[in-house]
Order: sequence, then structure tokens, then C-alpha cells
Amino acid sequence: MHTDARGHQIGFECTEAAALYSEAVESFVRRHADTVPLLQQSLAIEPDNVIAQTTFGLLLHGARKSALNKDMQQALRRATCSGRSISPREQCYINALQHACHGDLFAMVACFEQIVKDNPTDLLALSLAQGELFWMGEMERSLQLSQTAQPHWQSDIEGYPEFLSVYAFDLEEAGRYAQAEEIGRTSVELRSTNAWGTHAVAHALYMQGRHRQGVDWLSDKQSQWSNTNQIKYHIWWHQCLFHLEQGQHDAVLEHYDRWVRNHNEALVQVTPDLYIDMQNGSSMLWRLEQQGVDVGDRWEEMADLVTMRVDDMSSPFTSAHYAVILAATGQFDLCDSLIEQMNRFADTSNHTLASRFRNAAIPAGIAAIEHRKGHYQQVIDTLMPQRHLLWQMGGSHAQQDLFHQILVDAAVKLQKRELIAMLLKEIEAIGFAVPTENIAYKTAGKLLQ
Ligand SMILES: [Fe+2]
Repeated sequence: MHTDARGHQIGFECTEAAALYSEAVESFVRRHADTVPLLQQSLAIEPDNVIAQTTFGLLLHGARKSALNKDMQQALRRATCSGRSISPREQCYINALQHACHGDLFAMVACFEQIVKDNPTDLLALSLAQGELFWMGEMERSLQLSQTAQPHWQSDIEGYPEFLSVYAFDLEEAGRYAQAEEIGRTSVELRSTNAWGTHAVAHALYMQGRHRQGVDWLSDKQSQWSNTNQIKYHIWWHQCLFHLEQGQHDAVLEHYDRWVRNHNEALVQVTPDLYIDMQNGSSMLWRLEQQGVDVGDRWEEMADLVTMRVDDMSSPFTSAHYAVILAATGQFDLCDSLIEQMNRFADTSNHTLASRFRNAAIPAGIAAIEHRKGHYQQVIDTLMPQRHLLWQMGGSHAQQDLFHQILVDAAVKLQKRELIAMLLKEIEAIGFAVPTENIAYKTAGKLLQ
């Protein structure tokens, strides 16, 4: 019998294929870049292996790219064609992939929850669940799951630092910053390459307005990320946020060009349009422009990539950022097409994400477009009814803040002081320590003095 690094049974005939699969899982939970190559090496030895094909399909879903849906369906077919007997845990993974293929993401997550309930140290299921829940804004549910697992973890179990990093990020998004920071720091002390734990602490510092400490926290960690996947670019985005808050625009642009959007990076050459990379880039350029920084032609390379993905409905938060990008490059016909396709998906699909598009991503996208046109009243009319639902498009509080910034800026442009005061209170309630001390809300704060 073969097992993964935490002793869970994995059904392989060949020891080498099992070892490669187990390595792929460790790569995934450590946010390393070689997860898929390792999985493919395992599948090259056992092409129809149930858990390897199923895991491959689930990772394809996590790539949030509709062009990969066919490959995901194929992975499911291959996983279910062998007819071999499988464990209840492996069956749960297959069920999760089936639900993903049918667009029932809550049922998919319920399978991961079942796996974690029965196998509390199954870090693969816990990490997959957090990823899916995060991109639906359901972080309370993610916290409940890591809390279910937490009593079963001990420091001598393989993957303990990675478990702590998942737990720390759940705590951070729930506003429990002190606990998140402590656990996140421990996770990095135990494994210096722990990018997800590093990231959780960066979030906790940002939400509390501790921007100088944020720069210090990340500055000596970057040498640890040579094997890390694209999450390292997102952490550089966080470093840009910390610099931006201190008015260090040259540092922001330097990190942006070197790390946040750099087509010379090997990972970017393989996947230039990864959803989170596009979010990072557009969100940072928008924020820079709000501070009066000329970002040159930096929007263009992203706009070129978006033109090929306006019909991709795999990530509401990303689609809202596509609107930001297309509007920034003045492609308003394509903006209309994007919103039309989002509306069609929201109206006609029974996918879990359809309502998330309707409630959050469509109004956020329209607001970004209207803001770029200078139609500030339309921004307010669009976002005011939906502002308490924006979390449904997924992403962190720090990321979602972009669309609150768009709303507040529209109110500032129209000098609507009562509205600004109300919105700033709401933003504080989301978890930002003192919104008016954030660079994005400084002008709004001054208007209220
Ligand atoms: Fe983040």
C-alpha cells in the first residue's frame, strides 16, 4: 500500500508513480511551481490512475481558465474509467471533480469538507477547499474548515507549517489579525520558504496600516521564493501596496516591472494571462494612476491578453478586473461585449458563479468602466445597491478594496460628503484599521474635515 506524506492511502500500482504523486501534492501545498510537471510524470507511468487524474482535474479547475474545461472533463473520464476499487477518500475527490465539471462549486467544497472531517490532516483537500472558497468570498466557511482540522495537527506531522499558513490566512480574512500574524510568523519560522504564511502576515500588517513593517517583513523573504509558483508575484504586489502607502512610487514601478508583470519571467512565459497575475497588474496600475503616477504603456500588454478572454466566466473577480483593463485602454466596445457576456452567463447558467457575477462582478465591472469615462453618478448608482455584496466575487479584503476605492472616488469627485462619511465607516467595518490613513482615502478624509 502506498501513502502520501501524511499517511493517507493512495492507490498506485507502481512505487515510482506513487512517489511522484506524493511529491506533487507536497509541491502544491507548499505553493511550489513544479506541481503539474510532477503530476504529469506520475501520470506518464500510470495514465489512468484515479487519484492522480482526479487531482490533475481539480488543479485545472483551480487555474480558473475556461479553455481548460475540456482537459478537466477528460481527467474525470480517465479517473473513472479504470474500474479499480478505490477508498472512500478517493471517491470523495472524484465526486468533487464531478461537481466542478457541472459547475456546482458548493457541492465540490462539501466533498473537500467531508474529506477533512474524515481525514483532518488531508492538506490537499484543505488547501483546495480554501482556494475554491476564497474565490467565492466564503472565507468564514474556510475558517470553519481549518478550525475543524486544527486540533488534529501536531508539529511533527509533515506539512505542519503549510497547515498553519492556511489557518493564518483564514484568521486574517476573518479580522483576527493578532492571531493570524502570530500563527503566520510561526509558519514561516518553521519553513522559511513558506510563501503562503508570508502572505498571510503581509495581509495582517496591511489591514492594520503597518506599512513600514510590511516592507521590512517582505524584504528579507524574497530570496526564499526561487521554487515558488506565481504566488510570489502576488506577494510582490503586496510589497508594492506597502510602498504605495508610503508614496514610494519609484519602488512600486521597479517591483511592478521586475516582478508583478514581467514577461521575461519563466512562469509568465508559460502562462502570461494567469488570473491572479492579471488582477495584480491591473489593480496596481489603477491605484498608481489615482496617485497621479504616469504608468506609460503598461496597460497595453494586459489588454492584449484580455481580448482573448472576454468570454471566460471562470472567475468573477478576474472578469471585473478585465473591465478595469479594457476601460483603461479606452476599448469601450470590448467593455460592452465583456459586460454583455457576463450578463448572459449570469442570466442563463446554473453554475454557482452565475449569481456571483450578477451580484458583484457585473456591477463592479460597470462601475470601473463608468469611472474611467468620468461618469461618477453612474458609478454611485451602480455600486451603492451592491456594495455589501462585492465580497461574493471573491478575493481578499485588500484586493476587493479596489472597487470600494472606485466608489469612494466617485463620491469625492461629486463632493458627496455624507455619502463619503458613510462609506468610510463601512470600509472600517470591513476590517481596515483607519481608512482615512490609507493613501486611497486621504482625499476623502480631508473633505470631511
Ligand atoms: Fe493577498
